[in-house]
Amino acid sequence: MEFSIKSGSPEKQRVACVIVGVYEIKKLSFAAELIDKTSGGTISEILRRGDITGKLGTCLMLHKVPNLLCDRILLVGLGPERDFNEESYRRANRSAMQAVLKTTSLEIANYLAELPCRKQSVEWMVEQAVLIAQECAYRFDSFKRLEKEEGLQLQKIVLAVPRRKDLAEGEYGLEQGIALANGIKLTKSLANLPANICTPEYLAEKARELANRTNAEVDILGTNEIEKEDMQALLAVAKGSASTPYFIVLKYNGATNEKTKPVILVGKGITFDSGGICLKPASGMDEMKYDMSGAAAVLGVFQAAIESQLSLNLVVLIPACENMTGSHACHPGDIVKTRAGLTVEIINTDAEGRLILCDALSYAESFNPQLVIDVATLTGACVIALGHLATGVFSNQDELAKDMVAAGKSIGDRAWQLPIWKEYRKQLKSPFADISNVGGRDAGSITAACFLSYFTEEYDWIHLDIAGTAWQSGAEKGATGRPVPMLMQFLREYVQSGDVKTARKGRQGFKVENQWTEEEDDDKTD
Ligand code: BES
Ligand code: MN
Ligand code: ZN
Repeated sequence: MEFSIKSGSPEKQRVACVIVGVYEIKKLSFAAELIDKTSGGTISEILRRGDITGKLGTCLMLHKVPNLLCDRILLVGLGPERDFNEESYRRANRSAMQAVLKTTSLEIANYLAELPCRKQSVEWMVEQAVLIAQECAYRFDSFKRLEKEEGLQLQKIVLAVPRRKDLAEGEYGLEQGIALANGIKLTKSLANLPANICTPEYLAEKARELANRTNAEVDILGTNEIEKEDMQALLAVAKGSASTPYFIVLKYNGATNEKTKPVILVGKGITFDSGGICLKPASGMDEMKYDMSGAAAVLGVFQAAIESQLSLNLVVLIPACENMTGSHACHPGDIVKTRAGLTVEIINTDAEGRLILCDALSYAESFNPQLVIDVATLTGACVIALGHLATGVFSNQDELAKDMVAAGKSIGDRAWQLPIWKEYRKQLKSPFADISNVGGRDAGSITAACFLSYFTEEYDWIHLDIAGTAWQSGAEKGATGRPVPMLMQFLREYVQSGDVKTARKGRQGFKVENQWTEEEDDDKTD
């Protein structure tokens, strides 16, 4: 898909479809008004007939509107003008794109980015339009031969900004949006792959290709090197599978000073989670091919960060293996020594994510990091707690967790903080080893985070549990690309402030939320 920025006359666009908004009830947006005038009142006449009222997300496609150079006009409902906010803007864009993709339009002009939306910047409006267009156009059908959807028609999208002087900001938003959308696409496509194709070796190969494409450094550790690094917990999980494990290391030096401490992203790379000897039930087990979504997300962020030339030093670490039931698989009750030296009693072989992550997290220490963020489909309990709306955020620095939640909110990729108070560590007591790998039924996602917290005491750390947000089930099933947008937004703010901890203070007029203040009224659209 190609994108470009324009300012000016919707009535003069020579494209297959021009998208304009209508407020509820029956009030034309500025662009719709210009079209109405040129067409001799056609739009107002249709509104009078009542075929579209402006209700948020509704659409009406018009053909052959008089005196215009375009083939179609798509009217999109925006809801009441005074309530028009970020979420309504996203909804309207999504509905418009879905309607356009059902037609044979090759080139369209979208005038929604012109709308005033609670003082949001042109950059934000344009980036969101790009992200939503790419989200709607995404298909994962490379394995289909029958009933394959006809190839996508749409090729070009022109995004309109209000004034000529907004063009430069629009172009910047476009660049940022395209880089991020490409990262999201990479994440989705990796996560959607089945486990017979996306093996640990395949992930390593893709990481190598990504590094070559972007001129980044890459280092892939195989079984021998993993043994040398003493990552016994990772090896214990990998043992039950015929596929050997890999430990992926990627480095990008984008900071002006090469010595600037890096930000490290760690992604859980379980290419299939059968549960091991503590086997999962058959129903829904196919979804455990997504258990490498954390790895896919950090690869997506890595690519997007390089493509948008973020000025920071970034390291990606991915422990990749399968959790299977082979005859060498570890038994419940096994005791392993982690790379950090702490011993773990493996009470449940299905709590494998924390085992491979703990070794990666202690390896991260050797980079002298500024901050370490791990991303993992870690616990079913996180889905019970937050459902599919919010990613779970945990941190050993409260401020960092709040920065992450705020970044997610501003880009429309929501997250919510959960506590990791020391008292929860009691649940991880083991009579035979230093700690157990499970903490019982209560507070399952918190005790998983607590387990990780033993291995992150030497640096600032954020843990993202994406079990509920990385993919969706049902008719539209597939990877979502989350939390790539939130992570990119977080890193951009980090780069702007030069220091994560002060990033939030530097954002003027940004409202800081906590768990005890009510959400604003206008956020309830969903
Ligand atoms: N990969 C799963 C977590 C998961 C479950 C993600 C459902 C998405 C949907 C993880 O490895 C796991 O199996 N966790 C166990 C932990 C338990 C044994 C303490 C879980 O959540 O049931
Ligand atoms: Mn598991
Ligand atoms: Zn898992």
